[in-house]
Amino acid sequence: MQPAKIAPKDRLIVGLDLPSVTAAEAMIDKLGDSVTFYKIGYQLAYAGGLPLAKQLASSGKKVFLDLKLHDIGNTVARGVESVARLGATFLTVHAYPQTMKAAVEARAGSGLNILAVTVLTSYDDSDLHAAGYRLNVSDLVATRARQAQSLGVDGIVSSPEEAAALRKIVGDKVNLVTPGIRPAGSAAGDQKRIMTPARAIASGADYLVVARPVVEAADPKAAADAIQAEIAQAIG
Ligand code: C5P
Repeated sequence: MQPAKIAPKDRLIVGLDLPSVTAAEAMIDKLGDSVTFYKIGYQLAYAGGLPLAKQLASSGKKVFLDLKLHDIGNTVARGVESVARLGATFLTVHAYPQTMKAAVEARAGSGLNILAVTVLTSYDDSDLHAAGYRLNVSDLVATRARQAQSLGVDGIVSSPEEAAALRKIVGDKVNLVTPGIRPAGSAAGDQKRIMTPARAIASGADYLVVARPVVEAADPKAAADAIQAEIAQAIG
């Protein structure tokens, strides 16, 4: 998927951070034609969300499975093949070279794109040190982004604050997918490094992942429409 060719409406990925398939289906009904791309993470995936992912993909929606895979290469490859058969568009893996290599090889010939998570945004330098790393966060993010690009990974998940620096490292053929998006005036919740949709696009993000500002809004469809309008205006 070439980042430059994405329609503004398809750049909003709504995170279905909801406890059940019933709740997710009610939200999908409310959003109707407004939203074309949904993200399913641990919470919903482990509560029946994988058949829902397959159903969404069959109905013409795009699906991002945020499963953050990491295992021995053979296990990653077989898992990626199964996810590809669900019809998902994006799948996250942790940015370890063996894992990324196995995932990229296994997705060949399918419509699945592999996204690498470089360093989890909840980690700071002291967390990396405690986990046995010698590099600081920014050096490890840069190292892994370079490895991801050379291994043929299709995209990188990052904070919008890292988007501009990552764009310089990976060029314009790798998708940058950014959570941590907050329309002006909406609650940050537990996100610390946030940007408005317009600023994230201006920083080089290709796709914006938004959950609570849409799924917890009084009118989720109006919230999604407003974010898409802001994205379209920022793209110009
Ligand atoms: O509600 P909110 O818009 O903050 O949700 C952001 C979504 O993106 C959540 O599903 C969260 O798990 C995910 N995410 C994130 N930061 C990352 C990777 C994924 O917020 N680094």
